[in-house]
Amino acid sequence: MPSFSRSESYADAEGLRPGPRIIAIANQKGGVGKTTTAINLGAALAESGRRVLLVDLDPQGNASTGLGIELGQRAQTTYELLFGQVALQNIVVESSVEGLLIAPSTTDLSSADIDMAADAKRSFLLQRALRQSSMERYRLDYILIDCPPSLSLLTINALVAAHSVLVPLQSEFFALEGLSQLMLTVREVRQGANPDLRIEGVLLTMFDGRNNLSQQVERDARENLGELVFRTVVPRTVRLSEAPSFAMPILTYDSASKGSAAYRELARELVHREVPVTS
Ligand SMILES: Nc1ncnc2c1ncn2[C@@H]1O[C@H](COP(=O)(O)OP(=O)(O)OP(=O)(O)O)[C@@H](O)[C@H]1O
Ligand SMILES: [Mg+2]
Repeated sequence: MPSFSRSESYADAEGLRPGPRIIAIANQKGGVGKTTTAINLGAALAESGRRVLLVDLDPQGNASTGLGIELGQRAQTTYELLFGQVALQNIVVESSVEGLLIAPSTTDLSSADIDMAADAKRSFLLQRALRQSSMERYRLDYILIDCPPSLSLLTINALVAAHSVLVPLQSEFFALEGLSQLMLTVREVRQGANPDLRIEGVLLTMFDGRNNLSQQVERDARENLGELVFRTVVPRTVRLSEAPSFAMPILTYDSASKGSAAYRELARELVHREVPVTS
């Protein structure tokens, strides 16, 4: 297993002013809790007073749908943003949570990989889009990027644009195998387009404390990855899986639930080991 150090510094690329901390939420394995984490960590950070933009970089558009963004509000999306056809402010939509904005996507994004292929700057399209000076109006503290379940050019764009990557890991067998592949991709991105990319942390999701396998996965992850694994563990709860069908984050749908508590705790953990950004 490759070794990685945790995030230490988040200076803005241009060194001009403290920019938002950009975190890609990635794992090429499907259904591990990327979108659930993007929505609910975003909502928990916003609840704590941070200003957050969630960038939906998945053609499935689950983060957009889960936050109740109607298709009619998605005339222009992250597809047009990537290709420089539209400025960020033209696609950003407010969610029902104060302080949580979203750049939505639709299935249009599914052709992005092919459409980007011929572009010499294909890995840098999202970085360019998120570093516009017009972003300053939003006074963002965080940008969370919800990645698709692949190591495609979309995910590479997220890793190149980000300061760090947060990896949800489903507490089940084979979880760690898939992680090595993602870590290798992170290493490649570091060796090329984004040398400062850090691992924000690995988040155990869908954890069932009564299940021996969940406990085994947690032990293995903590043994192999040490402090890269967040102390916070997200439990498997039906309420978390229900919330998107009501177009709400868990914090709105069931504020007193275990899922809400977990994502609030994750937000606190993330913020508290944050090193202030300096110019
Ligand atoms: N902690 C949890 N407890 C119960 N269900 C969960 C939990 N986290 C996620 N789910 C459910 O598991 C499914 C997959 O979660 P999610 O969509 O967040 O994963 P994903 O990694 O974004 O998937 P994809 O790779 O398809 O984008 C969803 O139906 C979601 O509601
Ligand atoms: Mg998803």
